[in-house]
Amino acid sequence: MIPKLTLTRPDDCHLHLRDGALLQGVLPDTARQFGRAIVMPNLKPPVTTTEQADAYRARILAARPAGNTFEPLMTLYLTDNMEASEIRRAKASGFIHGVKLYPVGATTNSEAGVTNILKCQGALDAMQDFGIPLLVHGEMADVSIDIFDREKVFIDRFLVPLNHDFPALKVVLEHITTQEAVDYVAQASVPIGATITAHHLLYNRNALFTGGIRPHYYCLPVLKGEKHRKALLTAATSGNPRFFLGTDSAPHPRTLKENACGCAGCYTALHAIELYAKAFDEVGALDKLEGFASFFGADFYGLPRNTDTITLVPEVWQLPVELFIADSTIVPLCAGETMGWKLWTSIPTIEI
Ligand code: DOR
Ligand code: ZN
Repeated sequence: MIPKLTLTRPDDCHLHLRDGALLQGVLPDTARQFGRAIVMPNLKPPVTTTEQADAYRARILAARPAGNTFEPLMTLYLTDNMEASEIRRAKASGFIHGVKLYPVGATTNSEAGVTNILKCQGALDAMQDFGIPLLVHGEMADVSIDIFDREKVFIDRFLVPLNHDFPALKVVLEHITTQEAVDYVAQASVPIGATITAHHLLYNRNALFTGGIRPHYYCLPVLKGEKHRKALLTAATSGNPRFFLGTDSAPHPRTLKENACGCAGCYTALHAIELYAKAFDEVGALDKLEGFASFFGADFYGLPRNTDTITLVPEVWQLPVELFIADSTIVPLCAGETMGWKLWTSIPTIEI
């Protein structure tokens, strides 16, 4: 019999929780598995001030199931001309753990993103001084660049100069998707880390076009070819602490996914740790899951590691085909498919 797997409780270092009724509906999925999560600020309007982050944090805490101790780690959304004083306030708050850079137009709710990094020098200087990480959506938004090359071109044109100009700035290259990103992060001489999603570990771009167009596999950065998926799997299972778990779980109502212009984002919070277990199991690397999921993200952010545990059991179970959350239908990744690992949520009582 395959033994069960007990891990220090993991953290999700990249998560979209949304707001309002959708937040209430999705938060329990994350809070069941993860101790903490780095919460993305791309709301409408975006979370650009410490005051807004404080209010958002209070709404997240209020949405936790009774007795749950999940901790949201808040972020700010970087805008042109953000003042160094805002970074100072963020640092003083104690609850803001990063500032997210969306190149304007790169992805969902990035309209208020950065148009020119030169306009952010003051904020970046302050972040470097205070040790607040810059969390980067690493794609050029330029539509003349092939969509499959936008991450690589971003690294060459944007990240290399940024790392050169701010050598002590902590940077997380979020949801990496390419061999080039793996290589860059592994060899860079600056304090850089990278999150990797479960969907980029499990699928290549064929998943988008299996027998027709599959909008529930569409996310940004878009899934890449098999060579890149393999490079991500190698990085995630390597034990290199620069690579850690970030689901990028991004719920969108079914109607906005199955649409002539469908939204980017995969809902994986429901079964996130089981998806990662599947990916690691497929390459015989379950022994590397705890470092990736539970240690390296906390270490990068300078947070104590969680002290409690979760347990996964080798059990076949079927995912729902859809979820009814608030007044929306959300289709989880691999809807209706079977999974081989299951989070053990109820401890059976022993009869004496
Ligand atoms: O697929 C994605 N969805 N990528 C992002 O960068 C944003 C996210 C969202 O907020 O829906
Ligand atoms: Zn994201």
